[in-house]
Amino acid sequence: MSKVDLDWGKLSFSYIKTDYRYISHWKNGAWDAGSLVTENTITIAEGSTAIHYGQQCFEGLKAYTRADGKIQLFRPDRNSARMNATADRMVMPHVPEAKFIDACMQVVKANEKWVPPYGTGATLYLRPWLIGVGDNIGVKPAPEYLFGVFCIPVGPYFKEGLKPVNFIASEYDRAAPRGTGAAKVGGNYAASLMPHEEAAHKGYADCVYLDPATHTKIEEVGAANFFGITKTGAFVTPLSPSILPSITKYSLLQVAKDNFGMKTEERDVYIDRLDEFAEAGACGTAAVITPIGGLFYKGKLHVFHSETETGPVTRKLYDTLVGIQYGDLPDPAHWIRVVE
Ligand code: PLP
Ligand code: COI
Repeated sequence: MSKVDLDWGKLSFSYIKTDYRYISHWKNGAWDAGSLVTENTITIAEGSTAIHYGQQCFEGLKAYTRADGKIQLFRPDRNSARMNATADRMVMPHVPEAKFIDACMQVVKANEKWVPPYGTGATLYLRPWLIGVGDNIGVKPAPEYLFGVFCIPVGPYFKEGLKPVNFIASEYDRAAPRGTGAAKVGGNYAASLMPHEEAAHKGYADCVYLDPATHTKIEEVGAANFFGITKTGAFVTPLSPSILPSITKYSLLQVAKDNFGMKTEERDVYIDRLDEFAEAGACGTAAVITPIGGLFYKGKLHVFHSETETGPVTRKLYDTLVGIQYGDLPDPAHWIRVVE
């Protein structure tokens, strides 16, 4: 398969229109068969709940080209389960797992020439989405839904890749204590736009969100989860009902335990006790692992391992996770689905 002419190694996390996307329509209690289309715009009713009341959600996962040229997805079943958990919170219909994974597979296959080759460091980012549509005005669930998946070849989310970047603790919240923080809904991201702009304006890559109830504990790092490596070598990550359960984070927890015999803890991480960590990072599908160089809080930049060098534990976790994702390392937990 000949590939499109792109400078794969220079890609950033930016929109590129690829050839095909999948779309399916839910009406009268059932999904239609769904199909691939070429048009990258949709027409929806002016009263759609997605427009007015934020009844919508999305997912993010990646396809990787292996050394032997085959393409594989990383844990699409977990993205499907999380989309359905979000759908429950937003009172939207489930997309059955088989339909979700089939849609992802169809989109990857149809856009094979856009899937970055092995060794370029780039990947194909898949963006499944689910929105409430149809004629409506009241604050209530929509009468119809659209489920779609599109894809984009991408490079690093934070432009430095596996180089440390600095973050700033935000005074704003992305979600409420018993709100929608654990659901992947657009409203959480809408709430993050202004804090992000302010952080970027001050020269930081993004913000760290603290727990919305007390503002004493770390919750999220922009659109990624937080992890820290304690000075005694444990992998620690916050436990909270208002953070998004990151598939990357749970994969790293397992890698830390199974591959490296590390102690792992999901628990409170206090912003005024950062000294307990030798290293820290942000993790997520788009972010992969982004080392946190420094974290600015209350007038002071707390530097973890280094502002310029990636710590040794972060690096070995990264190498192992990415090795599994690209098919270079064994996949004992059966996280990989090959695109046939
Ligand atoms: N937290 C937020 C707010 C996110 O948007 C994401 C991205 O999906 C993550 C964490 C990381 O989750 P995952 O590892 O499943 O991509
Ligand atoms: C992801 O990592 O998939 C995200 O959703 C992060 C961001 C691009 C929204």
